[in-house]
Amino acid sequence: MNMSEPTLSTRGPHAPEARPPWTGTVRAMTPRDVDAVAALEAVCNPQPWTREALWSFVPSAIGVVALDDATVVGYALATVVRDESELLVLGVSPERRRQGIAAALLKETLTQVRRAGAKAVFLEVRQGNKPAIGLYRNFGFGEAGVRKGYYADTGEDALLMHAFVRG
Ligand SMILES: CC(C)(COP(=O)(O)OP(=O)(O)OC[C@H]1O[C@@H](n2cnc3c(N)ncnc32)[C@H](O)[C@@H]1OP(=O)(O)O)[C@@H](O)C(=O)NCCC(=O)NCCS
Repeated sequence: MNMSEPTLSTRGPHAPEARPPWTGTVRAMTPRDVDAVAALEAVCNPQPWTREALWSFVPSAIGVVALDDATVVGYALATVVRDESELLVLGVSPERRRQGIAAALLKETLTQVRRAGAKAVFLEVRQGNKPAIGLYRNFGFGEAGVRKGYYADTGEDALLMHAFVRG
């Protein structure tokens, strides 16, 4: 599969209702965004990354934020080590979901990790997280394995997903 030009998801069969398309912007995450990202992460992730954990990755990782005017409404953070990337966190404000924000964030993240030399991207996702799994499948991610009992809060398995990115 060729992911050099990831396709921005359009409204598909999962969309519960017609929503106005998102008209905000995506830009690089900076240290000044960490408080806002940590606040969103706390409502998006049952085992949220702390502000300190995010802070430690922002200088070296590839991070992007989605903005409505000056308000952070979504975020993604990925590492690149040699030719492999790992998507660490991704989330969208609950009030702003189903408008294509995650798709815009993932598209930009994949473009940037490819530029940084990644040829493959890995991520873990809760097996029951259908919205996220649907998003990743739209971008060509496939199942690479299962990590049994990966999530300490519920004991839920993680699906390991993988995609190639080629320039
Ligand atoms: C998963 C998440 C990031 C999606 O954000 P979003 O901005 O609503 O997603 P988008 O509007 O860009 O939708 C892109 C695709 O995701 C999938 N998707 C998103 N929400 C969905 C839902 N409620 N049900 C089913 N599929 C869904 C669909 O495949 C959709 O494509 P489509 O509109 O063509 O059907 C968001 O629900 C979220 O923040 N969840 C909590 C945090 C999380 O689970 N992060 C991922 C951890 S691995």
